Amino acid sequence: MRRLAPTVDVEVLLTSEDRRQALLHDVATGLTRTPKDLPPKWFYDERGSELFAEITRLPEYYLTRRERAILAERVHEIAADTRADTLVELGSGTSEKTRFLLDGLGAAGVLRRFVALDVSEATLRESAARIAGEYPGVMVTAIVGDFDRHLGAIPPGGRRLIAFLGSSIGNFGPVERSRFLATAQATLEEGDALLVGVDLVKEPERLVAAYDDRSGVTAEFNRNVLRVVNRELGADFRPECFDHVARWDAAGEWVELALRSRVDQRVRIPGAGLTVEFARGEELRTEISAKFRPEGVRAELAAAGFEPARFWTDAQDDFALALAVPA
Ligand SMILES: C[S@@+](CC[C@H](N)C(=O)[O-])C[C@H]1O[C@@H](n2cnc3c(N)ncnc32)[C@H](O)[C@@H]1O
Repeated sequence: MRRLAPTVDVEVLLTSEDRRQALLHDVATGLTRTPKDLPPKWFYDERGSELFAEITRLPEYYLTRRERAILAERVHEIAADTRADTLVELGSGTSEKTRFLLDGLGAAGVLRRFVALDVSEATLRESAARIAGEYPGVMVTAIVGDFDRHLGAIPPGGRRLIAFLGSSIGNFGPVERSRFLATAQATLEEGDALLVGVDLVKEPERLVAAYDDRSGVTAEFNRNVLRVVNRELGADFRPECFDHVARWDAAGEWVELALRSRVDQRVRIPGAGLTVEFARGEELRTEISAKFRPEGVRAELAAAGFEPARFWTDAQDDFALALAVPA
């Protein structure tokens, strides 16, 4: 008998044309102001997602290992507290750590559905298909979407656990972060819960090393945004003419990633009708990765209308998971 391939419902809220328009907007605004910047979502084409997966295995990048340790230790408490029948993962990427949650909710006998949402379509389709194969009793939905815009598209009903792992929440600035949490709170219904992974403030040397690895993978990941703009908008960025910069911003308590121009240069971006000048030494900011303090996380969740969270750290107090329900 022929085995049927596992099926995944795929909902595309971001077509390639939507993505191009959004990139056009971000390039037109971000590259014409001082300092120049681009949002981190543009790192993640297929190559960018692969590079990120490689980053998670680097010795310097402790974040994934620490978050995995907390999930392994706490998953049964998470399952008992939430009794979630639907696991939703925002910015799911390869959904590698998610298997702890799928296994824990499965072992509790409650899991029915997994919903993964990510901007990176190829990676999302592949990882959703893999999960559908590994968890045959679970309905799998993949939403190609932007968690800045599409939280309202998360399927309603049941008891939903919304997981936002990998300290991706740190990629928002403080204002966008409070807006995101308020939108998430408004999206949640009674019985739903939010699980957020946050990297904690620690010695700047370790923080910076996590974003400036010796093998240069993060530098390639950082430069990938230029390749995305070249491909999508016909630009002529020369990635090799930009240095990777990772630095600790003590006032904002975030690690900042930037690309610093090695030379005076002019970049043509025909798809955006733009020519952009970079002076030698000028930086294009590509990401912030905010680091958190436990009291700050609790306060931000409370300010967004969540009840006091469960808060777990790993044995080294490097990383934390907060579980919150709408008040
Ligand atoms: C830092 S990685 C984390 C991946 C995974 N959750 C983990 O913990 O390892 C961020 C993920 O979010 C996705 N992403 C980034 N910005 C996004 C956005 N605005 N909307 C949806 N997904 C986004 C990326 O494609 C990537 O898979």
